Amino acid sequence: MRLSTISILLLLGPVALSGQTLRSLADARGIYIGTAVSPAHLSEPAYADTLAREFNQAEPENAMKFGPIHPAQSTYNFPPADAVVEFAQAHKMAVRGHTLVWHNQVAAWVKNGNFTPEQLSAILHEHIKTVVGRYAGKVYAWDVVNESFESDGSLRKTIWSGAPGYIEQAFRWTREADPKALLFYNDFAAEVVNRKSDAIYKMAQDFKTRGIPLDGIGLQMHVGLKPGSIDSIAANIQRITELGLQVQITELDVKLPIDPATPPSPDLLEAQAKTYRDIVAMCLANRRCTAIQTWGFTDRYSWIPANNKGFGAALPFDADYHPKPAYRAILDAFRAPVPGNQ
Ligand code: XIL
Repeated sequence: MRLSTISILLLLGPVALSGQTLRSLADARGIYIGTAVSPAHLSEPAYADTLAREFNQAEPENAMKFGPIHPAQSTYNFPPADAVVEFAQAHKMAVRGHTLVWHNQVAAWVKNGNFTPEQLSAILHEHIKTVVGRYAGKVYAWDVVNESFESDGSLRKTIWSGAPGYIEQAFRWTREADPKALLFYNDFAAEVVNRKSDAIYKMAQDFKTRGIPLDGIGLQMHVGLKPGSIDSIAANIQRITELGLQVQITELDVKLPIDPATPPSPDLLEAQAKTYRDIVAMCLANRRCTAIQTWGFTDRYSWIPANNKGFGAALPFDADYHPKPAYRAILDAFRAPVPGNQ
C-alpha cells in the first residue's frame, strides 16, 4: 500500500512538516539558540543529530568548569571540552564558555590548599590565562563569573572571596587572555527586578564607570510554571541593555512537578509551552537580548530530577527526542512578528 502524502508528513513529524527548525528560525533572526552539551552523549546519534539540527550555539554543561578542566595544580583536562568545541565547529555552531569563576565544582586542590590571598589570585590568573588562551578565537563569549551574589544582594562568601577584588580581576584577566571574547556575568534568580538583580545592575554600572571589561549579563532562568512577572523580567533586561550591555538567557529550563514514573499531563505540557513561549518572545522583543539557551534539550539528560526532587521533564524534547509542546511554542515565538523595539 502506498503511503499517502499526509501520512508520510505525519511520520516525518513537525520538523519536516514545516522545514523549519529552532536553528533555521534563529539564524533568520540573527540570534543564538543554544544548549548545554555533555561530551559523553555526542556519540549517541539521536543526541548529536538533534543538537546539530536545532541549535546554532553550544556550551559545555560541565567540561569547562574549574574542577573538571583543572583537576590538579599542574594538570589540565582539555579533551572533554575540546570534544564540544570540535562538534560545534564541525556543525558551524558558536560556543559559549562556562565558567571561569564559580563557588561550585571547584577543584579539591584549590579548596584544600590553604592558599594565601596572593596565591589564590595567582592560581585564578593562571587558570584564566590557560583556559581562555586555549579557546581564544573558538569561544565567542565567556561566563567569566557565575553566581557571586546572594539573594539579598550581598556578595557570596566563597573560596574565591579570599582573592582580593576577584570579580573585577577575573574580567580583566579574561580580556587580556582573549581581547575579542564577550565577557558575561551570569546568575540565577536574578531575572525579575529584585535585590539580587539590583546588585548585579549596580556592579555593571560601576564596571562601566571604572572601565572594567564587561559585555553582558547572563540570566540563567531555571524556572518553573510561575517564572515571575514577564514585565518585571523585561524591565530588568531593558535597564541592563540601556547600560550598553547585552543580555543572554543562558540556562533556560521549565521544571514540572511530576512523579518520575508517570508522563506529564497534557495540561502541564501546555502550561510549560506557554512559559517557554512567553520567555522567548520577551527576549526577542529586545534586540540586545542576543541568545536564548536551554540547559540541555532532552528530558533524557537534564540536571533537574537529580537536583530538584519531585520535578522533571523541563526541556523541549522528551526522553526519546520527540518535540514537546514547548518545542512548538518556541518555534511559534520565533515565527511571530516582534512588536516594539526591533
Ligand atoms: C549543573 C549541571 O547541569 C550538573 O550536571 C552539575 O552536576 C551541576 O551543575 N547553574 C549553573 C550550571 O551555572 O553550571 C549548573 O549546572 C546549574 C546551575
